[in-house]
Amino acid sequence: KQHIGVLNGLTVLVTAGPTWEALDPVRSLTNHSSGKMGYAIAKAAVQEGAAVKLVSGPTNLTPPKGIDVQPVTTALEMLAAVEDSVSSAHIFIGVAAVTDYRPELYEQQKIKKNSSVLKLNLIRNPDILANVANRAMPPFTVGFAAETENVIDNAKAKLSTKGCDWIIANDVSMISGVLSGDENTVHLITETESEDWPTLSKTEVGERLAKRIALNLSDELGSSSVGS
Ligand code: PMT
Repeated sequence: KQHIGVLNGLTVLVTAGPTWEALDPVRSLTNHSSGKMGYAIAKAAVQEGAAVKLVSGPTNLTPPKGIDVQPVTTALEMLAAVEDSVSSAHIFIGVAAVTDYRPELYEQQKIKKNSSVLKLNLIRNPDILANVANRAMPPFTVGFAAETENVIDNAKAKLSTKGCDWIIANDVSMISGVLSGDENTVHLITETESEDWPTLSKTEVGERLAKRIALNLSDELGSSSVGS
């Protein structure tokens, strides 16, 4: 018998990995995201029957089968790729560790070490998640919040400033554990609840999240169709 997934018929858009913001032809600003968490979510969504588009910053991962992967490098490219696809998405999950600032200037030639201090001007990148959440007809929008302190409170603050439906709070104080590793300890934060999940493999976090989103959407559909 064919497995009918809980996300059958739905389109899911996922961002994953870091972004790289070039300073010169050989140097960039970036972070340690490996892409594993985002790829695991994309795979779980496909297994649950969704059509999945994955907008991925640079990673060493093999593009998963059955997923439309669009590789990007910078935050601006990631935003453009998301804007191209988001109108057909029912669910948006922002797992990417977007580099918050980009260099104001790109130096065409390798920057020389002529001085003992080098000052860089950095410009704030646009917030892709907030952009999606603030659309007129947003998809169901889930963000991730990587925090090194006050994990739950900081994640709750991000939920409200960014305006997404849910946020997954992620304790990355043990940097070598979460970023690049295979396990994750997260908390699911909604407007009214905060739920602690046990330490799970990133694959299991992906599967659990896919199922929770599906359950929530079917509950919402169920309640909105009451009496109709
Ligand atoms: O890739 P791995 O090695 O598997 O590691 C996974 C992870 C730790 C990177 C991932 O689980 C995670 O927590 N991702 C979000 C990391 C992050 O940078 O969070 P943030 O607090 O800066 O941003 C909060 C949310 O806003 C995120 O959903 C982020 O994608 C989004 N954002 C942030 C800045 C920006 N300019 N645009 C965004 O869309």
